[in-house]
Amino acid sequence: MTTPTIELKPSSHPLSGAEREAILASPGFGRHFTDHMVTIKWTEGRGWHDAQLVPYAPLSIDPANMTLHYAIEIFEGLKAFRRPDGSVATFRPEANAERFQRSARRLAMPELPVETFVEACDALVRADMAWVPAHGGESSLYLRPFMIATEVGLGVRPANEYLFIVIASPAGAYFPGGVKPVSIWLSEDRVRAVPGGMGDAKTGGNYAASLLAQAEAAEKGCDQVAYLDAVEHKWVEELGGMNLYFVYGDKIVTPELTGSLLAGITRDSLLQLAQDLGYKSEEGRVSIDQWREDTKNGTLTEVFACGTAAVITPVGLVKSAGGDWKQSGGQPGEVTLRLRKALLDIQTGRSQDIHGWTH
Ligand code: COI
Repeated sequence: MTTPTIELKPSSHPLSGAEREAILASPGFGRHFTDHMVTIKWTEGRGWHDAQLVPYAPLSIDPANMTLHYAIEIFEGLKAFRRPDGSVATFRPEANAERFQRSARRLAMPELPVETFVEACDALVRADMAWVPAHGGESSLYLRPFMIATEVGLGVRPANEYLFIVIASPAGAYFPGGVKPVSIWLSEDRVRAVPGGMGDAKTGGNYAASLLAQAEAAEKGCDQVAYLDAVEHKWVEELGGMNLYFVYGDKIVTPELTGSLLAGITRDSLLQLAQDLGYKSEEGRVSIDQWREDTKNGTLTEVFACGTAAVITPVGLVKSAGGDWKQSGGQPGEVTLRLRKALLDIQTGRSQDIHGWTH
């Protein structure tokens, strides 16, 4: 199937430079959007076509659009960082493109070629380069590629028309507290995903499914919710929108990919990066009892959450129906902070990228 090249239709900037700079000084997360977006259509029998860079604007959607009724949606998240020389690089966009293809397969949606995904992200970053925050802090331009069905109709089946879009949003810390440790509510009854379900696809439905437990976490005064597996309610899987790592001295362990949790790109990068820094890293199974016991006996020294949006965020407190406990005395741990710095140094071009992750 042929893939179109992106036709440029640049807009005049709707915001003045001064307005943009004011937003970049304190971007928050996902609140402001840049001047452009990339759109590419897919139609049955024709494939991908009409790739365009257009002004950021609302979509006009028929009330009977299939996505509105059946949640036929997948998305990605990746960041572009300003480097010391003023240039801009994204982090592992091909890995996002490949995961986007896997998500598409799971929802019977068409697969966008990896090079088209990367080209679309590049085109948007090039057009909205002024929106990439200055080098120095941790801010970045967060790219949100996504795809929806655009066919109109109420029959439940794969659609015959889809729309791929990339939008961009300047991003500061995902958690308003920055590297301040977050608190976790351990949900022992609600599950995020089941074996054979869609837990390993990056689809809006998984995030919708996490909202009630997330609201319960907020009621308990917690920032995030952690889920256990759906069969034994015993094995720790992930948070509502982030993976988890357990630090045992000089070894980091993350829940293995069972099919019901997301294969995070930050998660994957850390398996390698930890070894570069002289730690051991592995995928394994950590039960909730082990989490509690190993914290108590001092072998589990730190726990952190990781994801594109959240980078690496220490866990400082865990609350559960069976009791609460502090993690690393409620302080960010040394391994967590070291890994966080090493990752950000590569992403922002402050250290050498020996794995060829930056693009
Ligand atoms: C990301 O980390 O990019 C995500 O998609 C998670 C979302 C909760 C913002």
